[in-house]
Amino acid sequence: MSIKPLKIGSLTLKNNIVLAPMAGITNSPYRQICVQSGVALVYSEMVSSNGLIRDGKRTQELLTRSSTERPFGVQLFGDDPEVLGQATEIASELGELIDLNMGCPVKKVIRSGAGSALLCDPAKVARIVATMRRATTLPFTVKIRSGWNLKQINFLEIAHICELEGADAVILHPRTRCQGFGGHSNWDHLAMLKQHIGIPVIGSGDIYTAQDGLDMLNRTGCDGIMIGRGGYGNPWLIDNILRLQQGQPEQHPTPQQRLATALNHIKLYHHHFGSRKTVLDMRKHLCWYSRGMTGASEFRADVNQTQDLESLLGCVTSFFNRQGDK
Ligand SMILES: Cc1cc2nc3c(=O)[nH]c(=O)nc-3n(C[C@H](O)[C@H](O)[C@H](O)COP(=O)(O)O)c2cc1C
Repeated sequence: MSIKPLKIGSLTLKNNIVLAPMAGITNSPYRQICVQSGVALVYSEMVSSNGLIRDGKRTQELLTRSSTERPFGVQLFGDDPEVLGQATEIASELGELIDLNMGCPVKKVIRSGAGSALLCDPAKVARIVATMRRATTLPFTVKIRSGWNLKQINFLEIAHICELEGADAVILHPRTRCQGFGGHSNWDHLAMLKQHIGIPVIGSGDIYTAQDGLDMLNRTGCDGIMIGRGGYGNPWLIDNILRLQQGQPEQHPTPQQRLATALNHIKLYHHHFGSRKTVLDMRKHLCWYSRGMTGASEFRADVNQTQDLESLLGCVTSFFNRQGDK
């Protein structure tokens, strides 16, 4: 058994596992941890096309990356074809791939006509995809949902437009906008999409175990899979999906391996963001790293009280060391 590398336009990835763009999560330190676990492509958090063309500081911060985060996909959101075109030109200097967000369900984004609101306007989708296509020679992906709601499932139509207008791959998160993140993603939609378009299909949704990853590939025939929430505190998921694809057994991390990764994550965070943000943001990641371990609920209470880097490090180290190296 072997892994089929994913090809997106001119880019041949080393395998078929991609890190999902997740606002507030997939910043540079998180992406570096996932690269170390074997992911073949990382995406930025979603970036406002308006912000990018206005050179906003926050927007630029979202796109700083280390040399190991490569290939790096820049995900843009917006609703104006011209603005998205200009943003695509700028983003093409900052990454190796461009993506258009047509899945975000957040009200503020929807109200501006962006994210999954675009699914309701196929003619505009055509204009946007064509404009972005003209603006870059980089590989170009579009990330969509199944439709606005269960009565308006139109992913086949939208994906077809994306293909016609020159997108190199479509990423489908098979839930509707109105479903948000609730219930289950409908993997049948991935299988249908794979039959419907000629460009690669990447599946996103509910991969929590390595077997889930393998199942999505096998059941839907999709060309690549995206790791989202299942990777929280569990970057080993990526390596384990690669192992299963090669007929090898999974390898679960020991407490000491978990500790080493958590400490590395803290170090990368500190280097990128400084102490204050590290203490605040790493609390949630550390709670995720501790899931399923003895005393995890007490640890969560303790770690959420820490106010400085030193006590955060002390709290983490003693928790994982108490687990023993079983
Ligand atoms: C906290 C969070 C932030 C997200 N931010 C983005 C985003 O910026 N752009 C995007 O296309 N999708 C975003 N998503 C959707 C994910 O990329 C993914 O498609 C979705 O979570 C389904 O995959 P999962 O079940 O593996 O998490 C986000 C999801 C979560 C949970």
